[in-house]
Amino acid sequence: MQSFQHSRARLGERIRRLREATAATRGPAPEICADCQGTGWVIRNQDGVSRASRCECWIREKIGKLRQSAGIPIRYARCTFDGFTVYPNEDLERALRRAREFADRFPVRQNSLLLAGPSGIGKTHLAAAILNECAGKGIGGVYCESATLLTRLRSTYDKNSGTQDTDILRRLTNADLLVLDDLGGEQLTRWGQNMLHMVLNSRYNQDLATVCTTRLPPSPHERDSLLFEIGGRLLSMLHQMCDVVEFDGADYRHAGEHPDADTLETLWDERRRRTVGPTPQARFVPEQRLQP
Ligand SMILES: Nc1ncnc2c1ncn2[C@@H]1O[C@H](COP(=O)(O)OP(=O)(O)O)[C@@H](O)[C@H]1O
Ligand SMILES: [Mg+2]
Ligand SMILES: [Zn+2]
Repeated sequence: MQSFQHSRARLGERIRRLREATAATRGPAPEICADCQGTGWVIRNQDGVSRASRCECWIREKIGKLRQSAGIPIRYARCTFDGFTVYPNEDLERALRRAREFADRFPVRQNSLLLAGPSGIGKTHLAAAILNECAGKGIGGVYCESATLLTRLRSTYDKNSGTQDTDILRRLTNADLLVLDDLGGEQLTRWGQNMLHMVLNSRYNQDLATVCTTRLPPSPHERDSLLFEIGGRLLSMLHQMCDVVEFDGADYRHAGEHPDADTLETLWDERRRRTVGPTPQARFVPEQRLQP
């Protein structure tokens, strides 16, 4: 321990000198942590034994980097479960509970998750909250919107792009946690279906969980279902690997600035009255009973 303390002190001194040297060119350096002198290590006495452990400042920085490298869009970068407003809506409450449970249990092996429901109800919010929560546990996740992913993959066929499709695919297939947002946001070509199937299948085989979202009904028996946008093979894969969590609610994007629970409940009531009117729209269409 003596030698550890000695090398920690030497490291601290080197960091201090380096900061002084760079201050002239880059302006004032940030405060050096008083607990670890910038080394990232602190020595704590536990049951009479001195143990080296990571300093709080190092953990905070590491979590910040994990959150940044996940590539969560700015709008969702600060999404949390606590920041998710609930109102009397059983399915929405269940969706929040399932997302929270998923993050709490991670990285214990569990099924993937498919969050499904119309636009603006908070699917991406919950997926981003899962990534943020897991980053807090030191888990490196990746956010990816499915249409953007395919555009990026397609662009690698341009010889001047400088990126290889294998680099992109490796990042997605190997990430501890992947959020694949807005599946079926656009109709997939056969090539797009194959690409996404490859990513999901590879993760499934490696026992790596994925959180997917879609605004289309995931059941192939429903009208305008996800089946028509992503094809049977991919849909069947999703059903095999995911717990499907379907919910509906108020469209937050039409709820004004920082709506409270009462406002959302009123919007949700109005929406339900519109969809469950005297002539309900048939959502179940037997003649479209296609198998995935
Ligand atoms: N219940 C909620 N509580 C707090 N913010 C919400 C809620 N639902 C949606 N939002 C916010 O509304 C915006 C749209 O939600 P989003 O997650 O993009 O919906 P979806 O992915 O279902 O289309 C986001 O900024 C999100 O943070
Ligand atoms: Mg979304
Ligand atoms: Zn520190």
